[in-house]
Amino acid sequence: MTRRLTITAALLVLASAGAGCRGNKSAEPPIHPNWNMDDQSYFQGQEDNDWFPDHRAMRPPVAGAVAQGQLHDDDAYYRGRGADGRLVDGLPDGVELTQALLDRGHARFNIYCAPCHEKSGYGHGVIIQRGFAVPPPSYHEPRLQAMPLGYIFDVISHGKGTMRPYAVQVPVADRWAIAAWVRVLQVSQRATVADVPADVMTQLKASGGNP
Ligand code: HEC
Repeated sequence: MTRRLTITAALLVLASAGAGCRGNKSAEPPIHPNWNMDDQSYFQGQEDNDWFPDHRAMRPPVAGAVAQGQLHDDDAYYRGRGADGRLVDGLPDGVELTQALLDRGHARFNIYCAPCHEKSGYGHGVIIQRGFAVPPPSYHEPRLQAMPLGYIFDVISHGKGTMRPYAVQVPVADRWAIAAWVRVLQVSQRATVADVPADVMTQLKASGGNP
């Protein structure tokens, strides 16, 4: 009899405790019967820790540590250099020469480079017209025409002379797309009628064009 009463009382307490939690707001901290390891002392960002000689609780990564997925050991892709350390003259493996790549390069070039280098690459962009101290060279001068593609990637990544590097703003994939577009600009200025593909030539002639 006593046992049954105890059980009924216990059930009542549990039921009321459960009901009490539903929808009621309380300023008290929640009941936390089993603390387990939920509350432990720990160091917060920028806090002191005298255990280390430099007193920094935030530990710098061990020298040479590489974050996951950041190894970047593909020199041709990430640095524009081949195994011999020389600049590559072409797109690295994995970057296909497609219309989409050129469209991307065209768009990025007009955003990041044309303000100085001009959409055509002759170097009279609007910033230069407003009096930028050192005008950039034209991409169409023989010295730059002869540069390997990796050189353009390298200049975007590290800058050159008074030109700032664009590695922070322009991700690697876009740097290759821009480099390819610079090459398109260069080729465009020395193209001849012989470079026009036969089918396009037929179309041009059919439309009354005068190539
Ligand atoms: C703020 C103006 C400015 C912008 C923007 C700019 N450049 Fe330049 N660029 C220059 C100047 C100035 C030089 C010449 C630097 C020198 O020789 O001191 C230069 C030089 C170059 C050269 C030739 C390097 C050589 O050997 O003479 C290349 C290639 C080049 N830039 C590519 C780019 C590309 C690609 C972009 C866009 C991602 C870009 N630049 C954005 C100003 C700019």
